[in-house]
Amino acid sequence: MSVKFFTTTSLLFIATLILFFSTITIAYDDDPCTSQPDDSDITMIPIYGKCSPFKFMNGSNSLENIIINMASKDPQRLEYLSSLIQKRRRSFAPIASGQAFNIGNYVVRVRLGTPGQQFFMVLDTSTDEAWVPCTGCIGCPSSASTYSPQASSTYGGSVACSAPRCAQVRGAQPCSPGGSTACSFTQSYGGSSFSATLVQDSLGLATNSILNYNFGCVNSASGGSIPAQGLLGLGRGPLSLLSQTWSQYSGVFSYCLPSFKSYYFSGSLKLGPPGQPRRIRTTPLLRNPRRPSLYYVNLTGVTVGRVRVNIPTQFLTFDPSTGSGTIIDSGTVITRFVEPVYNAIRDEFRKQVKGQFASIGAFDTCFVKNYVTLVPLIKFHFTGLDLTLPYENILLHSSYGSVACLAMASVPNNVNSVLNVIANLQQQNLRILFDTVKNKVGIARELCN
Ligand SMILES: *[C@@H]1O[C@H](CO)[C@@H](O)[C@H](O)[C@H]1NC(C)=O
Ligand SMILES: *[C@@H]1O[C@H](CO)[C@@H](O)[C@H](O)[C@H]1NC(C)=O
Repeated sequence: MSVKFFTTTSLLFIATLILFFSTITIAYDDDPCTSQPDDSDITMIPIYGKCSPFKFMNGSNSLENIIINMASKDPQRLEYLSSLIQKRRRSFAPIASGQAFNIGNYVVRVRLGTPGQQFFMVLDTSTDEAWVPCTGCIGCPSSASTYSPQASSTYGGSVACSAPRCAQVRGAQPCSPGGSTACSFTQSYGGSSFSATLVQDSLGLATNSILNYNFGCVNSASGGSIPAQGLLGLGRGPLSLLSQTWSQYSGVFSYCLPSFKSYYFSGSLKLGPPGQPRRIRTTPLLRNPRRPSLYYVNLTGVTVGRVRVNIPTQFLTFDPSTGSGTIIDSGTVITRFVEPVYNAIRDEFRKQVKGQFASIGAFDTCFVKNYVTLVPLIKFHFTGLDLTLPYENILLHSSYGSVACLAMASVPNNVNSVLNVIANLQQQNLRILFDTVKNKVGIARELCN
């Protein structure tokens, strides 16, 4: 019975989508992708979106399928996040290939060098370093945009491996005697690995230019998952954008991720205190010394409809020694809770929605939604801040609303993670403000479509 329901409705689901997309294409005369961003902000574009320079999205690739595909890569992402915590306990463990999948879903437009070479870098709040494929890279994607140091008048050369900065890079290679060689590092990414040289050049963001920015020039890669135009690390650790721009931006930034369904892709990354929302509700930003890059917050509970879900506190408790707790991450697609937490939320959600449920991809609570279906709102309680999720951040549904899925999941059994991750889909159209000086995270509703 539920199998039949699943097949028929998913066919309908895909059919309505195709119809929907062809209608939209006709409706717009102007290409929304050409609209220019406000100078003070930095435009953010969903990597799989229509305006994305990567153009992953086409007629045969429905939005829902893309999200389901991306969500299927989250387990590797979670493994990556928890492996970082475990690695800290051992000293100097080399990075193994194949254990990480930092899938990045939003890209930010930057310029490197002078004259500026444009890149659409994946934005990742759980990584510190920035890196980009360089001219002559062996094994980088054939579609890669490469940075050419020779073409830049502000290229500052490579950083020496004896420089203190080199020791701050994750995966830095041992320095050979004499210390005159260049700083090189190896990292894994999405089952791929790469090596890069730490170099310096100016980094242009919106109208600002950061001189002598340290980033990785990727010389070789293996595996097919290296983002074709690099990655910009927005973590809290050394060598991240925050750390390198301390004098300019004072450790403060915010972003608004546009909806996955948006055709306009007008989200923004705002750097520095000016222009940030003033009256924004905040929750303390917690710091785990074992994983200083991650943005931990204190999630204290979840309400579904009017019911405060009964969640054993140990699954929410922030514990630096095990890495447990909750982070806000821009590189994971759907929010993942450790199993007991997810099950409690899901069971309450199902109880209130009623009806029959089927699984699609990572989602185990999909149902036929019609005008009488009552879908409860979900509220996350943080210390000092309650966040009621808008419906688009709770449900993933077909364009005509016939099938909807609860857009959250549990950490898969085979991933040994104690971490709850609040991900992209749950952050759409919210302004998320990170203040690493006052140690707080602010969240406010903002339509940035
Ligand atoms: C459309 O998507 C399919 C599946 O991802 C891909 O194989 C194909 O190359 C894409 N076509 C275009 C024109 O981008
Ligand atoms: C998180 O919130 C709980 C409940 O209010 C509190 O007992 C706990 O001390 C908080 N943890 C941190 C690290 O602030």
